[in-house]
Amino acid sequence: MTNDDVLDDVVGDDDGSPVERAKAALASLRDEGDTSASAVDSPVSAAPTIAVAPGRVNLVGGHTDYNDGLCLPMAVDRHVAVAARPRDDNLLRVSAADFDETAELAPDDDPDGWAAYVAAVARVLREDRPVGGADLAIASDVPTGAGLSSSAALELSVGRALLAVSGRDLPTADLALACWRAEREGVGVECGILDQFSAALCEADSALFLDCRSREFESVPVGAGVGVLVIDTGVSHELTESGYNDRVRECAAALDRLREVADRELDSLRDVDRDLLDAHADALDPMHRRRVRHVVTENERVRRARDALVAGDLDRVGDAMLTAHESLRDDYEVSCPELDAAVELAAETPGVYGARMTGGGFGGSAVALVDGDALDRVARAIRDAAPERVGPDADVFACRPSAGVRLVGEE
Ligand code: GLA
Repeated sequence: MTNDDVLDDVVGDDDGSPVERAKAALASLRDEGDTSASAVDSPVSAAPTIAVAPGRVNLVGGHTDYNDGLCLPMAVDRHVAVAARPRDDNLLRVSAADFDETAELAPDDDPDGWAAYVAAVARVLREDRPVGGADLAIASDVPTGAGLSSSAALELSVGRALLAVSGRDLPTADLALACWRAEREGVGVECGILDQFSAALCEADSALFLDCRSREFESVPVGAGVGVLVIDTGVSHELTESGYNDRVRECAAALDRLREVADRELDSLRDVDRDLLDAHADALDPMHRRRVRHVVTENERVRRARDALVAGDLDRVGDAMLTAHESLRDDYEVSCPELDAAVELAAETPGVYGARMTGGGFGGSAVALVDGDALDRVARAIRDAAPERVGPDADVFACRPSAGVRLVGEE
């Protein structure tokens, strides 16, 4: 499958696709009447600019990104779409089609909820060079609160659309960094770069091997015979209210302690390996020791999973995913009973190579790597058992490794 095939899918002929809904919402935003002289150089008849950005799953490499570590995400074929037209003032009039809400944002406004992401992205992009006003309409089929990084997909699609209507461009990795800053500074999550880099830089039919320290990345092709299944537990997580920022602080405290006792320069937990941890384990209290052990072993698992994926050894990728889940559950303590049940259910279903929680945790989704030939059967088996085993609101769907942010119509 090429990037264009993926895009055909996103655009679809289907009135319900995010792109079609965003276009319709933009048209009604204009119909609602505009008190400014915005439309001067953008007649309604001109085609709007449309940007799309995907959600993601992370095969291995949980909670390593803010420790300068490694991860192996994959973008999914679920997207946020933004339809945009320039305005000749500096306002952003934004319609969120999925919530049936609109917001009007002046440059210094500091709104809550979904509009906070839009305002934060615009603010960061304006630091560099002006971003003009715009009418924006947003529609998505990335479930929110499901650990699939709907917020990064929103940031990247808004960012790409705003740059395009302002006649600006940025290298995609720079746009990802701008959106990462927007999430941290504008929304207050002390996240790493995983989500924004995934929504920006993943390629179709590939996972992304990402080094969060050097910010180097490499696409790792995923064979056509590999299926990917998302099991959304239906337990919504909210990163800002969860223990996510606690984990960031626990890692910082453990690093400080290791710096004190090990006579070595340590920039981050990335500089800690098994030998160093073993040598100084007694200096850490048990909780901090478990947190560091997760990070150290998870970085090892990412390397193993990447090599196994390159070699086409899906059993070994699956093993790394299952061990990663145990580590996230027991050492990092970011799972929950519903995620554990989802992973157990997947692991015992024939045709599944492995599964783990994906995203920040405390709810959200698990991802399973599945034999592509068995995908329908596996999906049906897990879907049938999920309401009882995982929870009444569980949702199970297959997805394909997809491309990162782009403008619709871009070559
Ligand atoms: C969330 C954060 C990411 C990353 C993951 C855990 O998705 O936004 O930066 O830390 O959790 O791997």
